[in-house]
Amino acid sequence: MPTVRESALNNVVREILQKAGSDEQEAAIVAEHLVRSNLCGHDSHGVGMIPAYIEHIAAGVLKPNMPAKLVKDDSNILIFDGQLGYGQRTASEAMSQTISRCKEKGVALMTLRNAHHIGRVGAYGEQSINAGLESLHFVNVIGHKPVVLPHGGRDGRYSTNPLCVAIPGTEKTDAILLDMATSRMAMGKVRVAMEAGKTLDDHLVVDPDGNPTNDPSVMFNDPLGALFPFGEYKGYGIALVCELLGGVLAGGGTCLPKTQTIGGIINNMLAVVIDPKRLVEQDWMRRELDEMVRYVKASPPHDPDMPVMVAGDPERESFLKRQKEGVPLSPGAWEKILLAAERVGIPRSRVTSLIE
Ligand SMILES: NC(=O)c1ccc[n+]([C@@H]2O[C@H](COP(=O)([O-])OP(=O)(O)OC[C@H]3O[C@@H](n4cnc5c(N)ncnc54)[C@H](O)[C@@H]3O)[C@@H](O)[C@H]2O)c1
Repeated sequence: MPTVRESALNNVVREILQKAGSDEQEAAIVAEHLVRSNLCGHDSHGVGMIPAYIEHIAAGVLKPNMPAKLVKDDSNILIFDGQLGYGQRTASEAMSQTISRCKEKGVALMTLRNAHHIGRVGAYGEQSINAGLESLHFVNVIGHKPVVLPHGGRDGRYSTNPLCVAIPGTEKTDAILLDMATSRMAMGKVRVAMEAGKTLDDHLVVDPDGNPTNDPSVMFNDPLGALFPFGEYKGYGIALVCELLGGVLAGGGTCLPKTQTIGGIINNMLAVVIDPKRLVEQDWMRRELDEMVRYVKASPPHDPDMPVMVAGDPERESFLKRQKEGVPLSPGAWEKILLAAERVGIPRSRVTSLIE
């Protein structure tokens, strides 16, 4: 299994993206996002997405060098169209403008429609955190067949609709970054398991007949299996809310049969950015956060080797480890990256030389 250093992986990804049509700046933004996802432990949203992106460019459903287009500027509401450009670029551009508006107005609401895959939604929460702001993100996914069961159903009706809530930390406490698919397992994690030749744990997927299985390939065959929603009917409810807030209010549409054949992975997002200074006294807020997180973490662990964490902790832990040791990639995932590189005209010997 190759383990690749952050900077080498970044070089590989930038070179592939530039060969696939992106200018230097766009390639750098997308590469940074993908590699950071791997560093954070989310291989599902890291460099393993490259083969799909190359495929989507060829199919015309991902368009390099497309900025986020501001469709409407309405006081503290900003409406963007991602124009099928790289979502990592368009969503971060839309967030930057929304953050500036929030600083002016105290709260800003942003919608982004027609973005190609925006990747790890936590990246946009981190933009808010870095600006000292809080944010909520509701996202849906269209363009392909639905992959998640509604609670009680036997086939997919929507996708892994991620939800993210970002809350800055204090001098004593790290930021809280809740960033999650609303399926029990993110689709990309099923791909990562399949590439590594692993079976899945129980109760994550069903086969095309609606029967539970441990075989990840059911999510890549025709007819298609489906993923369970997290949290039974409550998780299903949150997923549906992401579908309706992300898909309808952002204007990009929902996962109905008419959007399932567009191709690619298209995300629509509704985000609300809040300046906490406009709501509560800051010293009190920070003390409250410090005390609450300390209180929660002081719960005696069920397993002494696994102390209580808060959202954002696993990613921070992975980041430090992988920044030091490199990013492990399964032979299956690496081979697909080499094939994607070859497809855009970069010989595998060149890619291999970049990671040595
Ligand atoms: N763009 C898209 O269409 C799309 C779709 C689905 C998911 N995603 C992304 O996939 C990524 C992975 O999602 P996921 O659901 O697999 O994440 P996950 O299940 O690994 O983690 C979900 C959340 O739980 C927290 N967490 C994990 N273990 C914890 C513990 N023991 N104690 C406390 N908190 C804990 C994490 O910090 C994170 O905030 C996310 O970045 C998400 O944005 C993107």
